[in-house]
Amino acid sequence: MKHFLDIHTTPADELRGMIDKAHAMKTARAGRPKGAPDDDQPLKGHMVALIFEKPSTRTRVSFDVGVRQMGGETMVLSGKEMQLGHGETIADTARVLSRYVDLIMIRTFEEQTLLEMAEHATVPVINGLTNRTHPCQIMADVMTYEEHRGPIAGRKVVWAGDGNNVCASFLHAAGQFGFDFTFTGPPTLDPEPEFVGFAREKGSKVFIERDPFKAVAGADLVVTDTWVSMHDPESAKERRHNQLRPYQVNEALMEMAKADSLFMHCLPAHRNDEATSAVMDGPHSVIFDEAENRLHAQKAVMRWCLGV
Ligand code: CP
Ligand code: NVA
Repeated sequence: MKHFLDIHTTPADELRGMIDKAHAMKTARAGRPKGAPDDDQPLKGHMVALIFEKPSTRTRVSFDVGVRQMGGETMVLSGKEMQLGHGETIADTARVLSRYVDLIMIRTFEEQTLLEMAEHATVPVINGLTNRTHPCQIMADVMTYEEHRGPIAGRKVVWAGDGNNVCASFLHAAGQFGFDFTFTGPPTLDPEPEFVGFAREKGSKVFIERDPFKAVAGADLVVTDTWVSMHDPESAKERRHNQLRPYQVNEALMEMAKADSLFMHCLPAHRNDEATSAVMDGPHSVIFDEAENRLHAQKAVMRWCLGV
């Protein structure tokens, strides 16, 4: 069973294959209306369940559109409206859904929910974000970097802000795609040592640098994300904002990066908190290509899962 649960648990050559496939599929349908079918219809006759226990704009729409472009059908399910939200076990839910659908994408809170779903499903399961990781996002980010600047291997990526779920998947990708990674943020918001350890074991140079200006010096790619994630308590907001303000990505910080550096943010953003509008709408920013590439990258991920 080919589940897409995380970047570090998927072989590097298969990740590379998915990125290349995503580029090819994007190129093949360039200029067509969004609703136009792809020439090949590998998901014809396939039904995909998209389960959301947290809000989503990009993940929800890009998976739905991607399945339809490939000839398949989707059903979007909210965790709250399912029996899952009323005490049915994850294992039973997985077994039942596997009788109806060919593929399950789930966005949830605890990583354990995703792992249990995958353990008991007899169809592939895709991680659409948990509190710990967000692998689909980083597949799109790698694709976006390479589309603009060529191979990401050997490049310097700097993450500014909260060492959160998106940061974790970036560290996994550093190990799998062979780029270096510098984290800059306050010590209380460092990425988990396990994620840093994975990238280092795979040979990436990973640095923790408290001074954001030193960190960004010579960067090929600067990335940030919201200061307060969906699973963080609202009560953390004020303290987070005070701690993270020095790590805002603004024009002065971007000046430290290479002249041809890129800026990414998975979105949704809180403009003028983690990044200024001048940067988000400025010459380094590729945030909307990044959002578009969720569609293409996930189509390749689904094909890989289904072997079609
Ligand atoms: N970046 C991302 O996953 O966005 P959504 O929360 O809108 O799906
Ligand atoms: N870190 C953010 C990512 C949203 C796509 C969150 O988990 O809320």
